[in-house]
Amino acid sequence: MKLKVKTNISNYSVIVGNNLCPKINNIILNEGIYSQKFLLIYDSKVPSQMIKSIISKFNKKKIEKKKIIFNEKSKNLKTVSSIVKILEKKNFSRNDCLISVGGGICGDVCGFASSIFKRGLNFVNVPTTLLSQVDSAIGGKTGINSLSGKNMIGSFYQPALVISDINFLKSLPKKEMICGYAEILKHSLIKNEIFFNFLKKNFIKILNHNRKFLEKAIYKSCLIKKEVVEKDEKEKNTRKVLNLGHTFAHAYEATIGYNKGLNHGEAVLLGIMSAVEFGKQKNILKKNDYKKIIEHLKKLNYFNLNKYFKSKDIPRIIFYMKQDKKNKDSKINLILLKRIGKPILNKSFEEKKIRSFLRGLID
Ligand SMILES: NC(=O)c1ccc[n+]([C@@H]2O[C@H](COP(=O)([O-])OP(=O)(O)OC[C@H]3O[C@@H](n4cnc5c(N)ncnc54)[C@H](O)[C@@H]3O)[C@@H](O)[C@H]2O)c1
Ligand SMILES: [Zn+2]
Repeated sequence: MKLKVKTNISNYSVIVGNNLCPKINNIILNEGIYSQKFLLIYDSKVPSQMIKSIISKFNKKKIEKKKIIFNEKSKNLKTVSSIVKILEKKNFSRNDCLISVGGGICGDVCGFASSIFKRGLNFVNVPTTLLSQVDSAIGGKTGINSLSGKNMIGSFYQPALVISDINFLKSLPKKEMICGYAEILKHSLIKNEIFFNFLKKNFIKILNHNRKFLEKAIYKSCLIKKEVVEKDEKEKNTRKVLNLGHTFAHAYEATIGYNKGLNHGEAVLLGIMSAVEFGKQKNILKKNDYKKIIEHLKKLNYFNLNKYFKSKDIPRIIFYMKQDKKNKDSKINLILLKRIGKPILNKSFEEKKIRSFLRGLID
């Protein structure tokens, strides 16, 4: 399955399929990327036979490879610099190509390195987690963490090609599958009720790697992200809908502490639940749609904040919600739903309203 992403300055393919690794060399050529040299950067947790099956089809003299341990701590300038050093040492030109094989962190770091090397090197993203296949590999946001926070240094730089092979997901832990599923669900809620109904009916098959259902969920999810990104590449306005549930989610992650029991996707599911509850309480969200979404979150087992927080945590959650980049004045901005598929932007609320709302959810 293939789709095209077209922005003001770029036009690239996203290819979704099974067992694409041995074909990557050919796919790159067929997409018109005629590089003389390739640097393949890969995540240390990607099974080595998958890397071998990619490399074996390239001319050995033309490809360099480097394994990196990617995590939020190594998502930094030092790692970018280590990649740029190889490119310089091996005398890469901007027509050559960096291939990233890994999750969202690997893709964000390699995308950023590509954007700054000689002001833009061909970048091929081969995402290997569900989250990166349905979300981070599309849209051109690249970045690294810095002293001021997550993803604070970065660029908008579209890849030349994205190749999503569902075969990578076989080695992915269940928690990471849930993480990607949260973003798929988010995409359905902001754009497409029919897709939401499909997910509600088939989520177990998707999480259990049923090939047909998994491929369809990834493809549909990419299609929605593509449509949003094409309308507003630089997140001036409408792209903000992709933040549904994320103002709450980021605050939940930060309050618990990163890498301490609640990963991003789990926080997103709780964040969606919160935005949906809030929308219902403010009479913004249609009751029947509210019921359908909460029912699904209950089946996924992510709907109860009391499992993670106590009432003494509320001030910290509010503190982090106030840091959100979307906020203006002292109010907290939320993306809410009117109906499934109909989000509303630019709704801001007084801090005290959110505090009393959270008091109702957390004993
Ligand atoms: N650029 C964007 O638009 C965008 C959007 C959403 C998230 N992000 C970023 O993406 C990152 C999260 O991405 P992620 O969830 O993919 O995390 P990740 O890259 O940390 O990968 C998750 C875990 O899976 C491992 N892994 C990767 N591929 C594997 C495989 N095939 N088999 C087994 N293990 C594998 C990784 O080593 C890691 O431990 C965050 O840093 C976030 O800021 C970026
Ligand atoms: Zn997210």
